[in-house]
Formats: sequence, C-alpha cells, structure tokens
Amino acid sequence: MLSKKVKDALKGLETPFYLYDMDLLRVTVESAATMAARYGFVLHYAVKANVDPRVLALIQSYGFGADCASGNEVRCAIEAGFDPAKIVYAGVGKRDHEIRYAIEQGIFAINCESLEEMQVINDIAGELGKKATVGLRINPDIDPKTNSCIDTGQADCKFGISYEEVLRSADQIKAMKNIIVKGMHLHIGSQIRELHVFEYLCEKVNTIVANLESLGFKLDFVDVGGGLGINYDVPENEPVPNFASVFAIINSHLKVGGKEVHFEFGRAIVGECGELITRVLFNKTTATGRKLVIVDSSMTELIRPALYGSYHNIENITSEETRQERYTIVGTACESTDVFDENITLPLTSRGDLLTIKSAGAYGQSMASRYNLHDLPRSVYSDEL
Ligand code: LLP
Repeated sequence: MLSKKVKDALKGLETPFYLYDMDLLRVTVESAATMAARYGFVLHYAVKANVDPRVLALIQSYGFGADCASGNEVRCAIEAGFDPAKIVYAGVGKRDHEIRYAIEQGIFAINCESLEEMQVINDIAGELGKKATVGLRINPDIDPKTNSCIDTGQADCKFGISYEEVLRSADQIKAMKNIIVKGMHLHIGSQIRELHVFEYLCEKVNTIVANLESLGFKLDFVDVGGGLGINYDVPENEPVPNFASVFAIINSHLKVGGKEVHFEFGRAIVGECGELITRVLFNKTTATGRKLVIVDSSMTELIRPALYGSYHNIENITSEETRQERYTIVGTACESTDVFDENITLPLTSRGDLLTIKSAGAYGQSMASRYNLHDLPRSVYSDEL
C-alpha cells in the first residue's frame, strides 16, 4: 500500500519506472537471513530476479551469496560486492569463456548440467592449472505444481543431468582429475506455493545423496535451489514470504548428515518490493464493447503477463472517482499479447492517471527489453522520494 505522501511524490515523475520499497526489501532480507541462521542454512540470492545496483547492495550487505545464470551475472555479482567464494553458477549452456571466468574467480561451485559440460569444465580447469569445484545439478523429476512455463525439475525438461545418467557415469566423473565434485544441486521450479512439494524434494535428495555417497562421491553441500512463491493475488496480505515454513520443512525432512544446506531464492527476496508505475495514455472502446486503458509501458518493461500469462494486481493510485468500470489494461508494444490484465474493476480511469502493477520486483526490470526501441525502465527508490 503506497502512502499518500509517496503517491503525491510519484505524480510529478516521468513514467514508466520501477518503484522499489527499500524498507520492505530490508525487512524481507532480514527475515530470510534471521530464519536461515536458526538452522545454519546458507543463502544465495538468485541475481537473475533483479540486478538493480541498490537492490544488490542491500542483499549483499546481509552476507548473502549469489546464484548466477551467466558469466555476466557472475561479474555483476562480484562487482556488487558478493564474495566469489559464495557464488554459485548454474545454466544449461555455459560458454567456454564463462566457464573460464568462473574458474579464474574461484567461485564456490559451478553447478554442472550435463556430462559433456563436466568434461569441458575439466579441460578448461586443466588448461588453467586449477581444480574446479562443481555441484552436480540433478534433474529429480518432481512436479513443482506451478505454472508449466517456469517448472524446471521434471524428467523431460532441459535442466539438470538425469539421475540415472549420473549413476551410470559415476566412474567417468570421478576420473576427471581437474574437477572436485563437492555437492549436489537441484532447482525444481519457481513460484511454488504448495509447500508440501518441498517435502518430496527432500525425499528425493535424501535418496540421491545416499546413492552418490555409496558410489564414492564425498559431498560437502546440498543446494536445494530457489522457488518459494509470493502472493500475487493479494500482495498486501503477505508482503514477506513464508521463509519460516519452507526452512522448517527442509530442516525436518532433509536427512543428509550434517552437510551444508544452500538455498537460491530470487522471487521471494525481491518480488514484493518492486512495482511498475505507469501512466494512462488513452482510453478507447473496441467495436465489441471492450473498454481498453492504454498505458505508457508494455511487455518491454514487464513481460511476465505476455510470456507466462502471469497475474499482477493492478491499482489506480491517483483516481479519486468512486464510480467503477471494467477495463482491459494494454501496453504500447506492437504485439497482441501485450496485455497486463483483462476485465478488471478499477475506479473510472482517465488520461494522466497513474497505475501501479504490483509484485513486479522479481523478473520485471531484469527481463526488460528494447523491443520497439523503447527505453529501458529506470529505478526509483522509496527512500529517495
Ligand atoms: N536457482 C536456479 C538454478 C534458477 O534457475 C532459479 C530461477 C532460481 C534459483 C531462483 O528461483 P526463484 O526463487 O526466483 O523462484 N522469469 C520467470 C522465472 C524464471 C526462474 C528462473 N530460474 C518468472 O518471471 O516467473
């Protein structure tokens, strides 16, 4: 909920922009860090969710490590002050120069997603005269009960090495002299709201770890990925996600004998602290009677609704009308899927009004594009208004 003071301050600003609530971000980061500390869990922030410099600086200041998806993300995290020894790097398609850079920086682990990748890491580490520390990213074949566009742990998807292949290839992996397999990793998907899914995850991990150890792997860590969801429907009800529950589940169900347990949350850390503020350009009614509100942002600022059919709650923060109307909110891009939401009830909305598109702190600004040569959206911070 934006205060009257903040709303008034926003009125004069050029739109669109991402507004970050730095107090909420701090409370969220503190909550995650405090609860993880109870169990001795290690937290990495999934940088892909949001790379705004002030957001990164705040998260880093609480001692988080970083989870990266590219060489440039590793570089960005290091430049933002994250300790390379706390950086993990996953991705199905790592380029040679990215692998080389990660090894040179001495990151905590390259989470490896295929046998061929492991061979290449082994070769590059050999050329550098170094040992690369890796985690085996295993595909556990779990249904995370989320939007199928963001589910990453089912047997047929592109992520991770199949468990059977790891078991079959154990000797081949152990023979790679420039690699130290220190842990196992999995990430089953994002926006997980059915927390019992994390119980299945623990059962799978328990079996996988026991089998890997019986094959002679000496594992120091288990990285269970990210995925904790947020409340897109009514963000005000749950501004800080339920870290306590997910940590309690992992703590009671994971039986991996004192190994370090790592998490890689993105959305749960930054999702609720950001919103896209956009201005109404025009109203019009289609020949079929649909009332459109055309705003000055689009899928180039926030692609989630167009790409995944994702829901974001939208509010008119300046209209003082008491009468209401049903609207479809569309963006400026030359794409028919560029629709933020359909048939929603707002107070009468007219040119110049400001709308907020909520819960957009994760995978909003970081997925922005320059399609139609739109400018990239900028950041505005609550504590600088
Ligand atoms: N670890 C790995 C290996 C990942 O691939 C991801 C997200 C995370 C951690 C963080 O997941 P989170 O805690 O944020 O759920 N763009 C999509 C989400 C893609 C997630 C990609 N991987 C969206 O807008 O919903």
